[in-house]
Amino acid sequence: MDKLIIRGGKRLKGEVEIGGAKNAALPIMAACLLSSGNYTIERVPNLRDVMTMGRLLAHLGAGFHYEGKKAFISTEKVKVFEAPYDLVRTMRASILALGPLLAKFGRAKVSLPGGCAIGARPINLHLMGLERMGADIVLESGYVVARAKRLKGASIYLDTPTVTGTENLMMAAALAKGTTLLENAAREPEVVDLAGALIAMGAKIRGAGESVIEIEGVDELKSVEYAVIPDRIEAGTFMAVAGITGGEITLKGCRREHLDAPIMKLEETGISCENVGNGIRVSGTSRPKAADVKTMPYPGFPTDMQAQFMSLMCIAEGTSIIKEMIFENRFMHVAELRRMGAAITVEGGTATIKGIARLRGAPLMATDLRASASLIVAALAAKGETAIHRIYHLDRGYEKMEEKLQKLGADVRRVKE
Ligand code: EPU
Repeated sequence: MDKLIIRGGKRLKGEVEIGGAKNAALPIMAACLLSSGNYTIERVPNLRDVMTMGRLLAHLGAGFHYEGKKAFISTEKVKVFEAPYDLVRTMRASILALGPLLAKFGRAKVSLPGGCAIGARPINLHLMGLERMGADIVLESGYVVARAKRLKGASIYLDTPTVTGTENLMMAAALAKGTTLLENAAREPEVVDLAGALIAMGAKIRGAGESVIEIEGVDELKSVEYAVIPDRIEAGTFMAVAGITGGEITLKGCRREHLDAPIMKLEETGISCENVGNGIRVSGTSRPKAADVKTMPYPGFPTDMQAQFMSLMCIAEGTSIIKEMIFENRFMHVAELRRMGAAITVEGGTATIKGIARLRGAPLMATDLRASASLIVAALAAKGETAIHRIYHLDRGYEKMEEKLQKLGADVRRVKE
C-alpha cells in the first residue's frame, strides 16, 4: 500500500493536461458489449477502475488491451454473461454491464453491489426500468439474475436522476423493440458522451443532456472508434489546488461548459478562471472568501467536487455552509480535515466550515476517491508535512496525480508503506 507525503505551502504554477473522464470511459467500455466487433476508445485514462472494467470485459470473453490512452476492445467472443462478486465489489460501475448484456444476449447475472463508503447506493431504479422493458429479474444469493427474450420500449420515470441508472437503461433501450422514454433522466456530460458513442454505433437517441431522453430501439449496432470527453472532476480538483495554494494553474484540454457551477462558486470565493488559448487559467487569491454550496444533479454543483471545495473553504475568510444532497454519507473527509485543524461541524447532510488562516500537516487516512483528492488539496496548503495513507483510493480515479502536482512545483512523493 502506498502513501503520499506532502509538504504544503508552495504556490503551484504551470500547466496541467486534463485526462479523459473516468465516468464517461466506464459506461462507453460497457457499451461495447452491445455489438460484436472491434472498438478503439480514445482518451481513456490509465486508472484502476478502467483496468477493472477491462478485467470484467475479459472475464466475459472479450479482448481488452490498453495502450497509449487507447482501449482496444473486441467483443466477438463474449460467451459469459456474469459479473462476479469479486469484480463488482472492487468497482460498483460493473453494474453497467447489466443493461448491455441483457439487451444483446437476453441474459445477465450481475453481483448486487453492496453499500460503499459514501452511502447505501441502491440500484432499484436500474432494475425497475429494465422490468418495465419486459425483463424478468430475480435476486439470487446476492446476484441480480435478469432474462428477456427481447426488451421492449417503455416509458420509465426515474424518481431520482441516477447517472449509471440512466446509462444502463439507455444502453438497454438502444437494442429494444420500440421506443423508450426516460423521464427525469440524469443530464450529466458523461451521459451525453455515452449517448454520443451509442449514436456513433447506430443507436437512435434524442434528448441526451435533457431530462427526457427518447431512444428508438434498433435491431443491431456496430463497433466504432470514439474519443471520451475530458474529466471535469479532475479539472475541478486542479482548480481547487490552484485556489488553495494561491497559485496559477492553466488547465489544458478541459471543457469549460461542463464546469459552469464549480467555476461560478470558485469565482464567488475570489478565484479567477480565465479562458486562455486552449485552456482555463485559474488564479488564486491571497485568501479565498467563504461561499456556500449545495450539491445537486448536473447542471448543479457536483457531489464529486464537494470534498475538494470543502478543503478550500477550510482556509477561507468567513463561514461557509456545504449541503450534500446526493449521498447520505459523503462527509468522511471531515474527520480527517479536522485532524489538520479545520473547524467543521456536521449536522445531517450539512457541514458548517469556519475558515481558519492555516491548516497544519498531520497523518491522514483516505477513505474514498474524492475524499482522497480533498485531503491532497488541503495538504498542499498546510503548514508542515502531511502523510496520506491508503492512497489506493486515489488511483481509482486520478491518473498520475502526484506527477502532475510535482510538475506544478508541489513537494509531494509516493512512498511504499
Ligand atoms: N439512487 C437510487 N436508486 C438507484 C440509483 C441511485 O436511489 O437505483 C440514488 C443514490 O443512492 C444517490 C442518487 O440516486 O442518492 C444518485 O446516485 P447515482 O445513481 O446518480 O450515482 P451513480 O450512478 O452510482 C455516478 C458516478 C459517481 C457520482 C454519482 C453522482 C459513475 C461510475 N459514478 O454514480 O462517481 O458521484 O454518479 O454524480 O459514473 C466518483 O467518481 O467518485 C463517483 C462516486
